[in-house]
Amino acid sequence: MGLLSKNCMQQASSLLGFSVFSLLFCPLCALSYDGPLYDYTAYTECKEVPEEPLYNGGILKDELPVFKPISINEASIIYTTPAFILHNLTPATIYCFSTWVKIQGSESSLVTASLTTDNGTYNCVGTVLAQSGCWSFLKGGFILDAPSNLSILYFQNSAHRNIEIAIAIASASLQPFTYQQWSTNQQYIINTARKRAVTIHVSDRHGNRLQGAAITIEQISKDFPLGSAIARTILGNLPYQNWFVERFNAAVFENELKWYATEPEQGKVNYTIPDQMLDLIRANQIVVRGHNIFWEDPRYTPTWVHNLSSAALKSAVNSRIQSLMSKYKEEFIHWDVSNEMLHFDFYEQRLGLDATLHFYETAHIADPLATLFMNEFNVVETCSDVNSTVDTYISRLRELERGGIFMDGIGLESHFSVPNLPLVRGILDKLATLGLPIWLTEVDISSKFDYKTQAIYLEQVLREGFSHPAVNGIILWTALHPNGCYQMCLTDDNLQNLPAGDVVDKLLQEWKTEQQNGHTDDHGSYSFYGYLGEHRVSVAYGNRTASSTFSLFRSEETKHFNIQL
Ligand SMILES: *[C@@H]1O[C@H](CO)[C@@H](O)[C@H](O)[C@H]1NC(C)=O
Ligand SMILES: *[C@@H]1O[C@H](CO)[C@@H](O)[C@H](O)[C@H]1NC(C)=O
Ligand SMILES: *[C@@H]1O[C@H](CO)[C@@H](O)[C@H](O)[C@H]1NC(C)=O
Ligand SMILES: *[C@@H]1O[C@H](CO)[C@@H](O)[C@H](O)[C@H]1NC(C)=O
Ligand SMILES: *[C@@H]1O[C@H](CO)[C@@H](O)[C@H](O)[C@H]1NC(C)=O
Ligand SMILES: *[C@@H]1O[C@H](CO)[C@@H](O)[C@H](O)[C@H]1NC(C)=O
Repeated sequence: MGLLSKNCMQQASSLLGFSVFSLLFCPLCALSYDGPLYDYTAYTECKEVPEEPLYNGGILKDELPVFKPISINEASIIYTTPAFILHNLTPATIYCFSTWVKIQGSESSLVTASLTTDNGTYNCVGTVLAQSGCWSFLKGGFILDAPSNLSILYFQNSAHRNIEIAIAIASASLQPFTYQQWSTNQQYIINTARKRAVTIHVSDRHGNRLQGAAITIEQISKDFPLGSAIARTILGNLPYQNWFVERFNAAVFENELKWYATEPEQGKVNYTIPDQMLDLIRANQIVVRGHNIFWEDPRYTPTWVHNLSSAALKSAVNSRIQSLMSKYKEEFIHWDVSNEMLHFDFYEQRLGLDATLHFYETAHIADPLATLFMNEFNVVETCSDVNSTVDTYISRLRELERGGIFMDGIGLESHFSVPNLPLVRGILDKLATLGLPIWLTEVDISSKFDYKTQAIYLEQVLREGFSHPAVNGIILWTALHPNGCYQMCLTDDNLQNLPAGDVVDKLLQEWKTEQQNGHTDDHGSYSFYGYLGEHRVSVAYGNRTASSTFSLFRSEETKHFNIQL
């Protein structure tokens, strides 16, 4: 690189230094943001000494817990538990809660934080698998739907209901955010983790910078995978196919790879349908998750498998992995290996406790470059399901890793009812400490809500996922069938958007670099912020034109791109 252009870049980048600051941080400065910055800190190791409270304790600063009597079985009130008395909590406020927890009376136990308000009890606002002898970190939160003058935040041992376990807490913190503050914090992460500053330098063949060159930039593909499930109903349905490929860069087959679909009768393996779906995917450069090799829920295990002896089952599961993974080697970016194993244990019951480990090992050998996922419901959706708390998920993952599994990933199904946003984020923060890819794999909102409400909650969940720095991809569970969708459709049968579809279209547009039309400045450069992904830049100067493409990958640095005419 010549001295001139190097010089020019330095000038440009120091200039841009200013605009980086103003554009990236402006949500936090120009609007004179003086609200709290969300603290992503989380811990999953049990510590001898608790860390300092987040937010310096927030509204719990200098508050000491009181002791609340609670009943640990139906019969009688037996002991007291630490609690915080909270005054004047308001609705439409996002309360982020965290604390350190230690127990006595059992080696380890699930501890649940609950909140009683004027208008009822929120049974779970956070959980932690607490231990005796060291402190564990609980992170969660709540949003009230009515004001509450007097509320009590308290802790219960929810694993061993019949024994007395003493709970100690330390470094508790409760930090409120308004929706506006929450959204400003989200935008800050989007600006820093999903976008990047770019400077285009335009010069002639001798390196002379060209001022006033006309520049057009458009994003031609997106880095962040955002997609939807599809079903065989898409085959032969050209309008549906067009609708899908215009929007999404990621997919998953709803049921078509499941064992019951590919081998309905023993030995009659038939991949015709997934093959045809894969053709569509390939033709449109869409990435696709492999879902799933095994499903631990006996209701979705092929009926013939139920009757096999353990030796026959062993041989059947081995041929299933071999057949599926050799056929589709390198085609699928992920495999859900042992679907929903925190809730069900069909194979463990029959093949022993290390069945799952064996599945992962065999799958890894068959397709060494595929990321092997756990995929589970009720992890981010709620904390009330004792089978799938965040710590349960993490300890199962660590067990697999101790067994030698790597190339693993965190699949969170995300079948939501009312999303508890601070809880979702607190759980993602804890999972993020593992440093593994996190995907929201089956996002939808329960069909018990009307279309408008589904759309509101969906937007909240998608914004939460996209703005969490550790989330690598999002797939909606919205495969379209003539009789509707699993819980939530994006469109009606004629591909006309429902409110949820409008939300998705709005966000797809929002999370894309706006087309840039401008001119180079007196340094021959043009700067902008782009969403990560591939961009095309076209330049015209006098009667000369040039066009090129460049990629934006995640980085803190400004991307510099030179184009010569
Ligand atoms: C109390 O909660 C219920 C829903 O759980 C809600 O319908 C009702 O409006 C709330 N009460 C007040 C006073 O807001
Ligand atoms: C809460 O406090 C307000 C103002 O003091 C009062 O009007 C209201 O009745 C109280 N609500 C409850 C449920 O105690
Ligand atoms: C495989 O499945 C396809 C699609 O359902 C069907 O048309 C075909 O007859 C099947 N092949 C066999 C050998 O059963
Ligand atoms: C499984 O075995 C039961 C009896 O043991 C039998 O009634 C049933 O038909 C068998 N099912 C299949 C799918 O072979
Ligand atoms: C939790 O898992 C166990 C065993 O896998 C199962 O018996 C139980 O029904 C599950 N509970 C829930 C709430 O899914
Ligand atoms: C382009 O413009 C330059 C001067 O502006 C002129 O010398 C040249 O002939 C033009 N080339 C073409 C192909 O028109």
